[in-house]
Amino acid sequence: MNAPILVTGGTGTLGRLVVSRLRAAGHNVRVLSRHRHDAEPGIEYVIGDLATGEGLDAMEGVRTILHLGGSAKGDDVKTQHLVQAAAQAGVKHLAYISVVGADRVPVVSGIDRASFGYFASKLAAERVIEHGGVPWTILRATQFQESLLMVARQMTRSPVIPVFAGVRFQPIAADEVADRLVALALGGPAGRVPDMAGPRVYGMGELFRAYLRASHKRRLILPIKLPGRAARAFRAGANLAPERTVGRRTWEELLTEQVRPGNGSLHAAANA
Ligand SMILES: NC(=O)c1ccc[n+]([C@@H]2O[C@H](COP(=O)([O-])OP(=O)(O)OC[C@H]3O[C@@H](n4cnc5c(N)ncnc54)[C@H](OP(=O)(O)O)[C@@H]3O)[C@@H](O)[C@H]2O)c1
Repeated sequence: MNAPILVTGGTGTLGRLVVSRLRAAGHNVRVLSRHRHDAEPGIEYVIGDLATGEGLDAMEGVRTILHLGGSAKGDDVKTQHLVQAAAQAGVKHLAYISVVGADRVPVVSGIDRASFGYFASKLAAERVIEHGGVPWTILRATQFQESLLMVARQMTRSPVIPVFAGVRFQPIAADEVADRLVALALGGPAGRVPDMAGPRVYGMGELFRAYLRASHKRRLILPIKLPGRAARAFRAGANLAPERTVGRRTWEELLTEQVRPGNGSLHAAANA
């Protein structure tokens, strides 16, 4: 059958959606993960760690990589390991998911790095890909609604929710990003493609208030003003792409689908 498509981060929020779409399109998938997983029809898992380079012989027979594996820190180093191995293995196309604002959030001081170092590491990862010798596609997206929902669930465990004053988000549905990324990966290398952003811009407090309303919880929202240049860029909207409002599902629709009053979680409601 067809050569396997390697997906890093295939066990994550976006990655699971990408893997199921690749399978639905008839592709064999190889997922690189730091943990052991049982194989599923058409999906094999290989153990590897992008941070150390372990397991990157998983490139064997691979022509296309979707690189979605990452964390809050060090995506540049992880990407360096991946790109080196991919270049050696003669991979034909590497599609990468980056973040809107990667080049607009200046991370120059320790204060910037503490809250916004992620943006600098995404930009550095982009540069590694652009110069790494493997034909590439890079898509930048705004924050995933599902990730913000996880944050909202965690933060509302506390009676007081600190929010960054003046900071806004334009959250997008992860499955809309998955649709686009899979189409891009299955097409040819396209370079930097237009950004993807969600249908509406919300203040950070507004996002949490909507979540609190949907889950019938009451919490105190406490705005705090972050110092530093990166925070200032965020307040100026560096993480937004209002001219690229291509997402359709709204935050309110996600909340209606996923949140039940009382406990904030459909899953918890089902097990209550
Ligand atoms: N979430 C957002 O709002 C957002 C917005 C724009 C762009 N992005 C980008 O989209 C990508 C996916 O984000 P997500 O929120 O779906 O991620 P996620 O749910 O946090 O999952 C992270 C994934 O990365 C893998 N991973 C982490 N460290 C790794 C390492 N050292 N070696 C190998 N794999 C590693 C994990 O695999 P194992 O745990 O199985 O090893 C997991 O599958 C990331 O590149 C992120 O920067 C995210």
